[in-house]
Amino acid sequence: MCGIVGYSGPKSVEEVLIRGLKRLEYRGYDSSGIALMQNQEIVLFKAEGKLENVEKLVKASSPESRLNSVRSGIGHTRWATHGKPSVQNAHPHQTGHVVIVHNGIIENYLEIREQMIADGFTPKSETDSELFGFLVLKEMNRGLRLRPAVSESFRQVRGACSVVVMSEKEPGTLIGVRNGSPLAVAKIENNGGMIIASDAQPIVDYTKEVYFIESGDGVELSGGELTFFDWRTNREFQKTPTKIEWSSDQLDKQGFDHFMLKEIHEQPTAMVDTINSIRDKAGDLPFALIGQPGLKELQAADEIIIIACGSSYYAGLLGKYWIERYSKIPVQVELASEFRYRSPLIRPKTVVIGLSQSGETADTLAVIRDLKAFKATQPSNQSSLFNLITIGITNVRGSSISREADACLFTCAGPEIGVAATKSFCSQLTVLFMIAGFLARNSETRKLMVLSGQGVERENTGAIEQVFQEFLKVPHLMKRFLEPDSLWLRAIEGAADALLLSKGFFFIGRGYSYPIAMEGALKLKEIAYVHAEGYAAGELKHGPIAMLDKDMTVVVLAPQDSWREKTVSNLEEVKARGAKVLGIGLENDDRLKSLCDYWIPIPLPATSGDFHSLLYPFLLLPTIQLFSYRIALKKGTDVDKPRNLAKSVTVE
Ligand code: F6R
Repeated sequence: MCGIVGYSGPKSVEEVLIRGLKRLEYRGYDSSGIALMQNQEIVLFKAEGKLENVEKLVKASSPESRLNSVRSGIGHTRWATHGKPSVQNAHPHQTGHVVIVHNGIIENYLEIREQMIADGFTPKSETDSELFGFLVLKEMNRGLRLRPAVSESFRQVRGACSVVVMSEKEPGTLIGVRNGSPLAVAKIENNGGMIIASDAQPIVDYTKEVYFIESGDGVELSGGELTFFDWRTNREFQKTPTKIEWSSDQLDKQGFDHFMLKEIHEQPTAMVDTINSIRDKAGDLPFALIGQPGLKELQAADEIIIIACGSSYYAGLLGKYWIERYSKIPVQVELASEFRYRSPLIRPKTVVIGLSQSGETADTLAVIRDLKAFKATQPSNQSSLFNLITIGITNVRGSSISREADACLFTCAGPEIGVAATKSFCSQLTVLFMIAGFLARNSETRKLMVLSGQGVERENTGAIEQVFQEFLKVPHLMKRFLEPDSLWLRAIEGAADALLLSKGFFFIGRGYSYPIAMEGALKLKEIAYVHAEGYAAGELKHGPIAMLDKDMTVVVLAPQDSWREKTVSNLEEVKARGAKVLGIGLENDDRLKSLCDYWIPIPLPATSGDFHSLLYPFLLLPTIQLFSYRIALKKGTDVDKPRNLAKSVTVE
């Protein structure tokens, strides 16, 4: 989604803005621009396409002597919603002496547009954003200073958004306000100025002390100071900064060709960091989440509902398989965009987990807000009966979900720049697995009827502790896989190169492999623009099998777990229809290998005899990620910034 950066201070303003916007490129954009306050005059540079186009414009038109007089500016990367990608629609938008950048949506833009035209102004763009500048200008023309004018204007718009504004009447001052779409701000040490942005990434280059602006709040950057205020009441208040735990080095490719490749390789570290952050307080107790919030409610829950979108939804699905098997607590996994618009039934002791890498996804956040609002309307004498609690699981400290859920657990993947989720997904699996194990150790008294069909085993405490020991080995195993030039890697590359021209792909799996099959198909669609679908292997014959012919590829995920035999039968059905089969299974599975046209063996070291089938998803994951990466590489797509995608989807 759109990215905002603003700066006021002694550094080279255009450098801070361009560098900051580069940090936000990962969010996805199709045009960009910056506005510099040169003495008391706004100068705009805007272009379609890549940020370099704006950079060239700035370089071409700004001799150093001119830029020396610039002390503040705002910049923006735009991901088109209202109006096509074009220079006119690119931000910043100037109306008279006011210039703005905006992230989000102004829902009542039509009425503001009519008002603007009636007042004799001609909108220069098709955007809803431009109209905000008009409102501010109107308020300033009535005699208000910039900050109250912005607050007053913000009270007139509906919709989740954030805006940063400058005016030629108050050079050096920036006002940022938030209602929904995130904003972070910081004061740079040693009088280095002040910086505001859509997230912490443009800021950590200068300082790690970041203030996250809450919805309903605003900030004024002027005279070297930050002043926080509530734009609804104009009341000023003090705020404490959040310390960012990762460094700006993590925002570079560090020798990898793409951020996505680097982030796939960072998965073992992301897992270790996530496990350690949970275990810090727990010592050696297996799966203990001591000190983590929301535990009591999780243990006592009648039901857990996981709400998520996209990849996070698939992570949630795997979480369901693990948690139900271990804890015997029923788990529903729901797409946030569906859940929020139907009338879901909620039991009194329900824990709703909002699973979101970014912590900002509009639909997931909306569910958390709706549930909290619903809970607040329950009569107080009923509240003990109604023990609904929301828990966020997110990778971003300070994000909206982390602040608005009743409790929050954090994954520790560090910043993820590649738009396609990799290490953040892996870390979500890590936390969900820890939750499943924790609930298993603490649910011995739970009485529930469990269907003991094929693939459902019961654990005793000893077995759980054994699984925990195996779980701790996963990052190390994954690291070995990822060593350059391994047999595994060569098999992935060979298969991807051979199947590059397939008309379409089905990824199939059963049990724990099924959510990974869906994640595999999503990765291929996202970064290689190849049609792919993830299916439960047993579902193929209920329709999609009609699609199969020699130009289609079926990727079969069949590690040696209790579902393997069934998956292999499905593989035979696929083969009989002439489709190409790529098998992904354990190295020693000669029978599976013999049935496949292409084969990626997952090498389990001899010492891992007890490796539990619950953990196979962690090994299938880098395999499907690298397969998609290789196809995308060969196709020459923009792996890190795939077309049409935004990293953090802050509109519904
Ligand atoms: C895919 C991907 C998306 C996100 C989805 C939800 O690679 O990253 O499908 O998972 O947009 O985002 P979060 O997890 O931030 O709520």
